[in-house]
Amino acid sequence: MTKSTTQTHDPAQGGVVIIGAGLAGLFTALKLAPLPVTVVSGAHLGEGASSLWAQGGIAAALAEGDSPEAHAADTISAGAGIVDEKVALFMAQEARGRIEDLLSYGVPFDADLEGHLSFGREAAHGRNRILHVKGDTAGRAIMAALADTVRRTPSITLLEGFAASDLRLRDGQVAGVELMPAHAGLSASPLLLPARAVVLATGGSGQLFAITTNPREARGEGIAIAARAGAVIADAEFVQFHPTALNIGRDPAPLATEALRGEGAVLINGAGMRFMGAIHPDAELAPRDVVARGVYGEVISGRGAFLDCRALGAGLAERFPTVYAACRSAGLDPTREPVPVAPAAHYHMGGVLTDARGRTTVDGLWACGEVASTGAHGANRLASNSLLEAVVFGARIAHDIAEISALADGEVRRLDPRFVSSAGAAPAPAPEPGSARLLQRLRRTMTAEVGVIRDGPSLVRALSVIASLEKDAGRDRRLINMLTTAKLITAAAHARKESRGAHFRSDYPQADPKLAKRSMLTLGQACAIAADAAEADRPKAARLAALHA
Ligand code: FUM
Repeated sequence: MTKSTTQTHDPAQGGVVIIGAGLAGLFTALKLAPLPVTVVSGAHLGEGASSLWAQGGIAAALAEGDSPEAHAADTISAGAGIVDEKVALFMAQEARGRIEDLLSYGVPFDADLEGHLSFGREAAHGRNRILHVKGDTAGRAIMAALADTVRRTPSITLLEGFAASDLRLRDGQVAGVELMPAHAGLSASPLLLPARAVVLATGGSGQLFAITTNPREARGEGIAIAARAGAVIADAEFVQFHPTALNIGRDPAPLATEALRGEGAVLINGAGMRFMGAIHPDAELAPRDVVARGVYGEVISGRGAFLDCRALGAGLAERFPTVYAACRSAGLDPTREPVPVAPAAHYHMGGVLTDARGRTTVDGLWACGEVASTGAHGANRLASNSLLEAVVFGARIAHDIAEISALADGEVRRLDPRFVSSAGAAPAPAPEPGSARLLQRLRRTMTAEVGVIRDGPSLVRALSVIASLEKDAGRDRRLINMLTTAKLITAAAHARKESRGAHFRSDYPQADPKLAKRSMLTLGQACAIAADAAEADRPKAARLAALHA
């Protein structure tokens, strides 16, 4: 599937560069030590990553009576027929080693009084196998421990305040990364960072949608950059919508973890009626995509959807401090009143196709974390598998790169310190006014037309808006990258004429057994799908007129 990578690289052409400093990026950097590596981060270390906001935890089949095989079986079943079973199994098998790594970096997983790890349960897991940290703060605690370890690791050079805008190739192999200072104007010239090996760990794509739980940095640019370099993008149509984002007018929307429903919170509509029981026998604990559609139905009908957590009592504040604080910031008290919720783009199962070593189809380019599509998640990610996938593939990529470096007898060069000194860290800038308007149009379109429920006409409308925004985007490299990823998602959704997992088409509401396979798209193919859809959509008369013109 993937080509061999980097063995022929000249080590003098640059070092190992990781783009992204979420869990996947930092873990890969730590596993590469003592091999020198540069980590490029748009935000300050430990900020701006979706991993930071993870309220669930990390799945690992370590409890008595559990097994990697059982974990893999749950992963395969959640993935609705298109999980790569080998990947699901090795991911579950390698969980023990990666949890030991995280413990060695100081992650304070919840444990009982005797110090044995405590395992919680989440939807669609057959066993208690989720490691948490102080209720809903796993992401924050894991990222704090990793950031601290990274700061103490001399082989890691951090380049904060930059975002990758493109890859440079030489003879079909990665030769460098183009970076834009995060605080520069849209027309600023990119800087070139030479690299012999690039690991994309840029996170998710939630910010392509108007309602998302993802941070502002999760713009899906990594997919666009890789696709433009020729990488194959897999399963792009599968975007997981979390059913219970707090609908309190905040962007991004704060997550109300599904663990709340696991502990007895229920969903009601504006009339105070529970509605999930009529939709699925597991009611609020049905698969995430089913609950998302149930909530969406209530929101669209105008009745509204609410999460009623009153059954959890006053202990909610202590057990779910992040959710409690978010509600209180909006003047709501979840221990006393139902809180409004809506589905929000939460996790992208699709991304840059990788093999089991994390190699992409472009020589010298690896990918891990949410930007990658490893085959582990299929059409519907099992809760708390994303952090596990990030660390399992981070370790595999580090091993692969270290092995190649040894084979090539290559000194992996450090980044030139003069370059570092010219780089200042800065918060992500507000988009310039014209671009902000275009970006809002893109996000609204993606939520309305490529959201929880799609159909052929809505996808064609979205492709047409994307095409018109592409004309207006000018030199705004960030917006261009976002539009490219939006096009890949929409084209893949248009091409998959069935419903499967998180991809629900009202015009093809059933799964088609013949289509139970992963999708693979190049950017060229996505553009062709968009062009064909536009052509098919032109009114007959206009087509005839064009023919006779
Ligand atoms: O609801 C949640 O806590 C989400 C967990 C996840 O996305 O893995």
